Amino acid sequence: MAEINRQILLAEMPQGKLSPEHFRQVEGAMPSPADGEVLVRTRYISLDAANRAWMQGATYRDALSSGQVMAGGALAEVVESKAAGLAVGDLVFADTGWQDYAVVKGRHADKAPKMEPLPHLLSVYGITGLTAYFGLIKCGMPKAGETVVVSAAAGAVGSVVGQIAKILGYRVVGVTGGAAKCELLTRDLGYDAAVDYKAGNTRRALREACPDGIDVYFDNVGGDVLEACLFNMNTHGRVACCGAVSQYDGAAPPHGPRGVPGLIVTKRLTLTGFIVMDFDAQREQALAQLQAWVEAGQLKVYEDVIEGFEHLPTALVGLLAGENIGKRMVKVR
Ligand SMILES: NC(=O)c1ccc[n+]([C@@H]2O[C@H](COP(=O)([O-])OP(=O)(O)OC[C@H]3O[C@@H](n4cnc5c(N)ncnc54)[C@H](OP(=O)(O)O)[C@@H]3O)[C@@H](O)[C@H]2O)c1
Repeated sequence: MAEINRQILLAEMPQGKLSPEHFRQVEGAMPSPADGEVLVRTRYISLDAANRAWMQGATYRDALSSGQVMAGGALAEVVESKAAGLAVGDLVFADTGWQDYAVVKGRHADKAPKMEPLPHLLSVYGITGLTAYFGLIKCGMPKAGETVVVSAAAGAVGSVVGQIAKILGYRVVGVTGGAAKCELLTRDLGYDAAVDYKAGNTRRALREACPDGIDVYFDNVGGDVLEACLFNMNTHGRVACCGAVSQYDGAAPPHGPRGVPGLIVTKRLTLTGFIVMDFDAQREQALAQLQAWVEAGQLKVYEDVIEGFEHLPTALVGLLAGENIGKRMVKVR
């Protein structure tokens, strides 16, 4: 095959904030699949807050190192198959990295349904939607009459969490950065109230937005927002610990959230960490429910699709700075 395989390398490990200069675009060799493998061509590459966390050390996957193709998940099309059950033209989710072509093991290529619009397979019907669904329902375990707070509330996972909580009938308060995003939450996504964590005194703003206290906090950010929520939690409240984006980009914070473990003890809180794959066995059922909500017009899908492979570095830096509303991805072709 005479085609070029564009690749974006993580050229240098960031010591402080990530910037586009940490990446370099090169032309790599066209890989060739061995038995049990497929050659795939990326269509949409997912941008995730976790991309930055992988540069800090091992998480649920190996840590990244400088010089390697930047890691990332993608919706990709099989162009050559030496793996049983996968044929040319199939769409798969795979850990392709930031490149046009990748060879992946057939057992690591997760066949995707053929559906339109394709970006939904990375947003509401992908890891984003499933993380929101399982984190809220299985870890947050909200009950009738309760108040649910979600952070990074206008982002990919957060925008789905808040809407599901509204569909299920809870009072929902979103925490996000800036007045414009706060307005979007209450005007378009149906949140009952929004708190701008960049405006200062988040703890007091949450107290005002949640007059009956917080029963469930879906934590996407950790750090100061987690602390502000802990102080406003009700007795026997639950925290679904999904991620800590406030801690990913830059130097380690000077201290962790105050009130740990004191508030956890006195308020008898339950903090539950989870990784979306923990719930793989219930995936089909969750997808059917998400699809029903989307088709009924109850769950709006927010996607932020950027055209052009070369924009991957700026797209990730912008995501960490809060440029995105909903699920950010780059359309490669
Ligand atoms: N546990 C799992 O299985 C799992 C799976 C997927 C994702 N996640 C986690 O889910 C979270 C959201 O990820 P995502 O990919 O959907 O990203 P996202 O929410 O679409 O984008 C990240 C958002 O984080 C906010 N943010 C950035 N810096 C912040 C700070 N210092 N304090 C508060 N908010 C900040 C920004 O919005 P603002 O404008 O509001 O600041 C930005 O839009 C991440 O923590 C990620 O690691 C976990």
